[in-house]
Amino acid sequence: MIFRQLFEPDSSTYTYLLGCRRTRQAVLIDPVLDTVHRDLEVLREEQLTLACTLDTHIHADHLSGAAKLKAITGCCIAYPEPEAPECADVRLRDGQVFDVGDVPIEAVFAPGHTSHHFCYVVDDGTHKLAFTGDVLLIDACGRTDFQSGDAAALYKSIHERLFTLPDETLVYPGHDYEGRFVSSIAQEKKRNPRLGGGKTLDEFVALMNALDLPYPRKIDFAVPGNRQCGQCPPDVPEQYRAPCDTHEQG
Ligand SMILES: [Fe+2]
Repeated sequence: MIFRQLFEPDSSTYTYLLGCRRTRQAVLIDPVLDTVHRDLEVLREEQLTLACTLDTHIHADHLSGAAKLKAITGCCIAYPEPEAPECADVRLRDGQVFDVGDVPIEAVFAPGHTSHHFCYVVDDGTHKLAFTGDVLLIDACGRTDFQSGDAAALYKSIHERLFTLPDETLVYPGHDYEGRFVSSIAQEKKRNPRLGGGKTLDEFVALMNALDLPYPRKIDFAVPGNRQCGQCPPDVPEQYRAPCDTHEQG
């Protein structure tokens, strides 16, 4: 498998490129509008054709690159079925395996950060990789205090759908704010300060309810934009408009 971990610094988002060596088909998990051209350059470097974009959920902290990538490359757009926007070409169901050439990507329903969030698990023959989106982060987890977040549901998703994966499974999160790249299921089970070391559901819910996090600065335009696969709504504030105003020649 061809694998690249790509970063968008304004929202500290990781985008993942997974490609098949034999068919040269690829997917991008959680592409960001701001870095679409960087992603296209990486696809060119790797001589890959973008088959599909794969969002983990309707993001609140950035606009998805899905619509723009489809406009430029003709790729398909895949979303989790429970809240798939109308513009999605593929609606993934829990347990469904989405094949990109020889790379099988399993969709895993993991609500809690939002009610429709999916993680994606890939077995490349040597390693198991879990793309955990905003469910499980390194030494942290996604917030549960907006959109359709639910701390108890997040705890259940992590314990029942992620901590049941083999210990050596690599954890690739949707964000990291401290320059970390990868963890493992064993490491998160043992030392994640919110969930590891046998923290109970009640301890976790109390901790999440006490976080008192700031209002996400892009949520008011990112959520409506992402319900259209990352189209810019007309009310994107001036300081965030640059990636919306680029006109594409295809
Ligand atoms: Fe999110």
